Amino acid sequence: MGKDVIIACDFSSREATLEFLDKFTGRKPFVKIGMELFYAEGPQIVKDIKARGHKIFLDLKLHDIPNTVKKSMAVLSRLDVDMTNLHAAGTISMMQGALEGLTRPDGTRPLLIAVTQLTSTDQERMENDLLIKEPIDKVVMHYAKNAEIAGLDGVVCSPLEAEKVHDTCGKSFLTVTPGVRFADGDIGDQKRVMTPAQAKKIGSDYIVVGRPITAAEDPVAAYERCCAEFID
Ligand code: C5P
Repeated sequence: MGKDVIIACDFSSREATLEFLDKFTGRKPFVKIGMELFYAEGPQIVKDIKARGHKIFLDLKLHDIPNTVKKSMAVLSRLDVDMTNLHAAGTISMMQGALEGLTRPDGTRPLLIAVTQLTSTDQERMENDLLIKEPIDKVVMHYAKNAEIAGLDGVVCSPLEAEKVHDTCGKSFLTVTPGVRFADGDIGDQKRVMTPAQAKKIGSDYIVVGRPITAAEDPVAAYERCCAEFID
């Protein structure tokens, strides 16, 4: 799989999502469906968007005992998504179970990506709430390595961590990076951001872009601008 721009479809209804996707009459974007939309509309929304010809990253961040995650992943894999994810904190054994569950009878499966530490967790919260005393970047790289050992395809990480993840886990281990903003755009609530061109330069494999596209006056033009900077 090559580099791609994934649009975070953070809408709360089917109506709003499809109205947004209707604007894309040329190149069909890879879209991320998160918990809000999935819990509101159920699996049918995934089938409908897939039927319109989009690739789908189903961002449900599973985290449970290995057997439950394995069986849940088997259900998700039947939705024919292209990428899905889980929390690396669930352990190597949970990640291995997930991969097993995700693999279809014909041997194919969606890409499986791990969340390491959420970017909303900082050093202080990790130490005080989770009692993890190591430096956060060491924890992130350790979780990335665990994901690689379990056989996963990559991690979700900040574009600022992508280079180090590739150094630690190899160039073919995928980095999926949110926190992308245009040089002349609003950064909103994201703290550490990069432009699509910078993300390309440091070796991100996929960028996940939400509001710079979904809230743009012309979303299709904003998407094409991302593609031009990141892929073309
Ligand atoms: O609108 P924006 O471009 O900030 O959207 C980024 C998307 O990536 C959102 O769906 C957000 O939940 C997701 N994300 C993130 N940071 C992470 C993991 C996921 O921003 N560490």
